[in-house]
Amino acid sequence: MKLAVVGAGYVGLTTSACLAELGHSVTCVDSDASRIAILQGGGVPIYEEGLHELMQKNRAAGRLTFSADLRPAAGHADAIFLAVGTPSRPDGDIDLSHIETAARQLARDIRHDAVLIIKSTVVAGTARNLGRLVARERGGDAVSVASNPEFLREGTAIADFMTADRIVAGADDDLGADRLRRIYAPLRARDIPYLEMSTADAEMVKYAANAFLALKLGFINNVADLCESTGGDIRNVVSGIGLDRRIGPSFLSPGPGYGGSCFPKDTRAFAALGKRAGARQWLVERLIEDNEARKRKLAQRIIDDMGKGGRPRRVAVLGLAFKSGTDDVRESAALTIIPLLQASGAIVHAHDPRASRAAAEFLPGVRFSDDCYHACGDVDAAVVLTEWDEYRHLDLRRLASVMRGRLLFDFRNILDPAEVSRHGFRYRPIGHSTGPFGKTAEGQGVADIYGRAAAYPV
Ligand code: UDX
Repeated sequence: MKLAVVGAGYVGLTTSACLAELGHSVTCVDSDASRIAILQGGGVPIYEEGLHELMQKNRAAGRLTFSADLRPAAGHADAIFLAVGTPSRPDGDIDLSHIETAARQLARDIRHDAVLIIKSTVVAGTARNLGRLVARERGGDAVSVASNPEFLREGTAIADFMTADRIVAGADDDLGADRLRRIYAPLRARDIPYLEMSTADAEMVKYAANAFLALKLGFINNVADLCESTGGDIRNVVSGIGLDRRIGPSFLSPGPGYGGSCFPKDTRAFAALGKRAGARQWLVERLIEDNEARKRKLAQRIIDDMGKGGRPRRVAVLGLAFKSGTDDVRESAALTIIPLLQASGAIVHAHDPRASRAAAEFLPGVRFSDDCYHACGDVDAAVVLTEWDEYRHLDLRRLASVMRGRLLFDFRNILDPAEVSRHGFRYRPIGHSTGPFGKTAEGQGVADIYGRAAAYPV
């Protein structure tokens, strides 16, 4: 099938390469001519594991091309995917202007039997509204508009596409449903669950999935706080609840609060939709506040633990990306925590294997380093904010030898507490302590709490 993908951002590029890999002939279009020039020259303007290779392979096979000219590409296509940005508006709702502009630009050029497929994350009802807009632009000649949300995680996007948990195909007419079925035939043949529903339901699935996952994270971060206050160990609690198949083990790692291009934006849009529709999403509204407060609270923990002294404190932040495997710093905890450390008077050094360049424009005054031990030179405290493998395997002896202080915050729980303590560090993980309750990993802290509770008269 001949397909066009509008938008050469993260979702557009990954989707283009994967659709080409399924055997379709794909043209990826973007109005940013310099971006298209990079792509035409064989470059990839973003980092995503395996994407470069997949693009090269499909370009060489003649299945993947790039163009800055929207109209001819759209005019030849059996289906046009819209994968343009839907940023947050100041009130939290999403801004649909890019998607509407793209639809207007191509409305008159697309074939009557072509299907417009929304890949971008949009609120329920958008496909139907876009259908009306396109029909108006075409003087009343309606085209089919479908919804096919993506569930791609940065860092594992290609696997998430090729071996998806499910494909959600939203269509309000037979043409749209049939076109989507044919596009995804190779994946349906691999027994990937394929769910057909209305466009509005498909749009809602995307938001509900992301809001639910974010709630899971917010909840486990709250339980981690409770473990800290009661002397428990979140790692035991996570194993204990994660093996319940109704809960599942994923998205239960406590951390410095979720970030990225999706969860913060999508939860805000979901909450805004709830307000607009008269069905307030109180849980999600509270989650959004909690997640922001968490970043501030962790910054304060660092400031308090370092204490005050005659000279300014020095801190090394290890990890600027919102998670490992990406150079993306959007809404990353580092962007909130570092300015708060600086405001307290601390001098901040930073390291990230991939994201320093992206972070630099948001973090004035930070001393970036290409080497994590260099970043930790002469600092009072080091803070692990992103779960990069490089930090899991830190040479603690070397770290201890270059640091001035011995304070080590592990906001991803990736270090071995015993090893860290053996090298003389004061260890500050999330949701468990090496404090008064001792070896909480063996459950002693929890037992102690239960022991004391049992001593109370019932
Ligand atoms: C997310 C969704 O997973 C994906 O389906 C959607 O299409 C886009 O948004 P992504 O933003 O790439 O993907 O990141 P994800 O891996 O989901 O992590 C989101 C945030 O949660 C990150 O800040 C991450 O560090 C945090 N996280 C995730 C945790 O703190 N603990 C976990 O157990 C999992």
